[in-house]
Amino acid sequence: MNYKKYFSDELTSLKSQGLYRKFREINRDQKHFPKATERFEGNERAVEVWCSNDYLNLSQHPEVIKKSIDVIQELGTGSGGTRNISGTSSYHADLERELASLHNKESSLIFPSAYTANQSTLWTLCKKLDGIEVFSDELNHASMIQGIKNANVPCHIFRHNDVGHLKELLNTSNASVPKLIVLESLYSMEGLRSPLKQIVSLAKEFNALTYLDEVHSVGLYGNEGRGIANEQDISDDIDIINGTLSKAFGQMGGYIAASSDIIDFVRSFAPGFIFTSSANPSIAAASIKAIEIAKKSEHLREDIRINSNLIRSGLRDLNIPHLENDSHIIPIHVEDPRLCKEAANLLIDDHGIYIQPVFYPTVPKGDERFRVTITPKHQAEDIDRFLSAIDQVWNKMSLRREGSASKIPSQVTKIY
Ligand SMILES: Cc1ncc(COP(=O)(O)O)c(C=O)c1O
Repeated sequence: MNYKKYFSDELTSLKSQGLYRKFREINRDQKHFPKATERFEGNERAVEVWCSNDYLNLSQHPEVIKKSIDVIQELGTGSGGTRNISGTSSYHADLERELASLHNKESSLIFPSAYTANQSTLWTLCKKLDGIEVFSDELNHASMIQGIKNANVPCHIFRHNDVGHLKELLNTSNASVPKLIVLESLYSMEGLRSPLKQIVSLAKEFNALTYLDEVHSVGLYGNEGRGIANEQDISDDIDIINGTLSKAFGQMGGYIAASSDIIDFVRSFAPGFIFTSSANPSIAAASIKAIEIAKKSEHLREDIRINSNLIRSGLRDLNIPHLENDSHIIPIHVEDPRLCKEAANLLIDDHGIYIQPVFYPTVPKGDERFRVTITPKHQAEDIDRFLSAIDQVWNKMSLRREGSASKIPSQVTKIY
């Protein structure tokens, strides 16, 4: 095989489809988010960030920064090992207690990322539970898909948020086999919630375990930001909750929270947990501080609600196609990868607005979009400027306008 040609042809093909990704170098200003500096082609320019997952801006919070620095000075930078071999500090143990309590579970386990937490936990459950069948929402995140697929077990994919379809699929499987329902509480590309209560009730009816990814809800919804399962008062009915430390909590890493037996089981059998170095203790300590701040920051959550309502109402007035929801994630539909990139370039070149175009495989082909994430740090003037920039770019490129498009993809083509 001509390996050189293979790799080069694959990349050429990706580029010709408009699907090649370029990373912008964005250096966020710690004191003035959403202001940032972009470095490109040897130059620097001022930009404003409209697509950060640092939802509460806690990565730049002075108390969180101080905690991180203090612990680096106390213990050093790296953890020095896997959790089993010298890599468990008291900060790791305290963080796991804090996360368990956040979700009202007996125990929790931290991973290098929520991606590995999903992939590794699901893989382990699927491999170990003999005869298991998985029921997975079609829009589930790549990390969950990877965990399930790699385990090579029967997986039934139900239409997005379609409880009727899930029930139909559950009915086709044998009553005696173990079952696992896998879903997200707030879908990352739609900003839409799942019908959690109904799914939990089906899980009970069919004696299925439930695995819930709360990556985009922790810190933002529920009492003290404890997530959507908490908000809907069904945390106790979810067997395993997954979350991240890298979005609303502004750090890095992921976790699962569950009963002490499930956590001990995953701790003991999941290669993605066992065979990797643990997080830097400073990250664990900063995460505890960030969670503490997030819990008492109802005013930040309220600001997000106000800001996202402002944007949605502006988009409605301008007839910019967007998906209506009530969350902090606002998808603006462009529906063509090249147009989406071109619009993103115009937004940053002409208006200093940085928003990354989102395309396949993150969303299905033909469903390319901007995914606006609003933070408490965006001010009303920023929002006005953003809307005016969108309006001008839409005019310049003659992009399609309409009322809010409640468009949810009916078919997902994933490459995984
Ligand atoms: C739904 C969902 N789950 C898991 C992850 C992985 O999170 P992390 O960045 O902590 O790996 C993401 C990342 O964006 C996500 O959107």
